[in-house]
Amino acid sequence: MRRACDPAIFWGTLLWLNRGASVTQQDDATLVRQSIAACNWPDAYYGVVRYLANQMKAKTVAEIGVAYGYHAENILDTSDFIYYDGIDPYQVGYDPSDIFVSDVAKLFGEADPQRAMDRLYAAVKANLAKYHQRAYLRRSSSLDAAKEFPDGFFDLVFIDGNHTQVAVKADLLAWWPKVRPEGLFCGDDYLWPGLKKCSMTSRLRSRSSSNSL
Ligand SMILES: C[S@@+](CC[C@H](N)C(=O)[O-])C[C@H]1O[C@@H](n2cnc3c(N)ncnc32)[C@H](O)[C@@H]1O
Repeated sequence: MRRACDPAIFWGTLLWLNRGASVTQQDDATLVRQSIAACNWPDAYYGVVRYLANQMKAKTVAEIGVAYGYHAENILDTSDFIYYDGIDPYQVGYDPSDIFVSDVAKLFGEADPQRAMDRLYAAVKANLAKYHQRAYLRRSSSLDAAKEFPDGFFDLVFIDGNHTQVAVKADLLAWWPKVRPEGLFCGDDYLWPGLKKCSMTSRLRSRSSSNSL
């Protein structure tokens, strides 16, 4: 079962932010920001990428799968010289076994899950705006976004998008070449069903390695 990050637990106390028909984008951004208290992802793995990025003095970091933007902020707060590209289509239906979309619908009290994802995209974009040009949120699928970057562009790529076996394999193949020699290619949820088969581990790309996995 996917680790829960269920802001709905917290939702009751924050419901006042979301009442009535006149919900503003700023309300949504605040709701998302405050809901981190109900999310257990930070305790599970946040800090690892932040630490590694800092150690290697990474300047260019990509995250595939941004969700609430909490990890993005955790990484961006590491240093003033990190440029972060977050890629997420905020599109329903990518994996029926992932409870993320229903969590987002509960968070916003939306019956229409796609509308909830649209609101999340806008809220995360607003929350990342404080980093100015250091943070760029691309509403795009991982594979489409990968085509936008030259090979070797990133110091660090973190894969955490669609966790189905087919999608993870495609992500690994698409993003591996985008990491510079001696850069860091990593991801999480290794124990998520399907991922183990993809042999996903953090690893350094050696200068001599080819672009194949
Ligand atoms: C586990 S969440 C990401 C969590 C985030 N990395 C963090 O640590 O806070 C998975 C995210 O992957 C996104 N996703 C689904 N399909 C995707 C795709 N094809 N490309 C990029 N992201 C995708 C989902 O919309 C969701 O926001």
